Amino acid sequence: MKKIPVGVIGTGFIGPAHVEALRRTGLVDVVAIADIDQEVADRKAEQLGIEKAYGDWQKILADPDIEAVHICTPNNLHYPMSKAALEAGKHVVCEKPLAMNSKEAEDLVDVASRTGLVNAIHFNVRYYPLVHQARAMVEKGDIGKIFAIHGSYLQDWLFYETDYNWRLEPEYSGESRAVADIGSHWLDLIEFISGLRVKAVCADFATFHPIRKKPLKPVETYAGKMLSPEDYQDVPINTEDYATVLLEFEGGAKGVMTVNQVAAGRKNRIYFEIDGSKKALAWDSEKPNELWIGRRDGNNEVMIKDPSLMYPEAREIVSFPGGHTEGFPDTTKQMFKQVYSYIASGDYKRGIAPKFPTFKDGHREIMMCEVILKSARERKWVEVK
Ligand SMILES: NC(=O)c1ccc[n+]([C@@H]2O[C@H](COP(=O)([O-])OP(=O)(O)OC[C@H]3O[C@@H](n4cnc5c(N)ncnc54)[C@H](O)[C@@H]3O)[C@@H](O)[C@H]2O)c1
Repeated sequence: MKKIPVGVIGTGFIGPAHVEALRRTGLVDVVAIADIDQEVADRKAEQLGIEKAYGDWQKILADPDIEAVHICTPNNLHYPMSKAALEAGKHVVCEKPLAMNSKEAEDLVDVASRTGLVNAIHFNVRYYPLVHQARAMVEKGDIGKIFAIHGSYLQDWLFYETDYNWRLEPEYSGESRAVADIGSHWLDLIEFISGLRVKAVCADFATFHPIRKKPLKPVETYAGKMLSPEDYQDVPINTEDYATVLLEFEGGAKGVMTVNQVAAGRKNRIYFEIDGSKKALAWDSEKPNELWIGRRDGNNEVMIKDPSLMYPEAREIVSFPGGHTEGFPDTTKQMFKQVYSYIASGDYKRGIAPKFPTFKDGHREIMMCEVILKSARERKWVEVK
């Protein structure tokens, strides 16, 4: 089978994770990367073993060999790059959040629909095997009617006032930080598993470091915390380090999400519990191969990821037998397998709905994020339209 030629724009933290996952699908050739200038692009292309390196992202779009483009740049570039890529006739896989605001996101949904090209948003957290298992259990009625959903997404990479990254600057990141950056994953995950949509929100935000110390030279995400604090400049911070959001779901279920980027010791922990009328489920992304099943009458269980014990809907995104741990890099691989099988089969031309998250899901997350911001600013409940 002919492999689909792909280009990746942005090669900081997540770009190389895309490259690696794409290669592991067996469906794709990563033929080019682009980054901010030629020197960076050449260096990254050599590290990653990629043939073509562009110092100007537009050249990926002009490259006739390339059929699909991955956008792995800061948030403010997602909209112009995705739009231009679709208009150049390329399929697009974009990082989250899809755009800087719902107007841009809506435009991208329209452009994608007009061009008929495949569009995906990298909500990879859906692709942990036991997340798919939890969804199948909810769908089959195993846990009964959902009463409540609660959980958090906690990180500590912005713990010190000297921790700095473009995500702290609204012109690159958008008006919301913790909610848009990590809350978007949690909300997408919960709606995916429960099949319930958030109907209204009531949010409370905090910025624990109102002034941060910006290093005078740029550093890559997650590498920043390894540097010693010198040559810093004071910068006022206008986006939230922390948010707690009360949630009301369609059908009456209740919920609460806490996101915090200054939670010491929590490296990158996504956690949820779903309390149902028969059973409860709980899952922690730092122990992703265990799903807790809670009971009132009888012993609680811990289900270990094992395809032979899982529902078929979940089994299809498992690559290794029980006891062989699957984690973060595997989620991206599983999602890209679905995206590129969909492209290769031509299903998108026949109007068959994709299984993976698309720009419509990206648009929904941004819309929710805007409603959460409004609620935090006005200190009241706000309906999600
Ligand atoms: N789904 C996930 O799990 C996940 C994880 C991390 C990041 N992300 C998302 O991925 C995006 C990138 O995050 P990151 O952590 O990799 O950031 P990063 O800062 O590590 O990398 C961004 C890259 O984009 C490049 N870039 C900037 N401007 C450019 C331009 N004009 N042309 C070409 N390249 C340009 C930078 O030089 C850098 O290499 C963000 O939107 C983030 O939300 C998603």
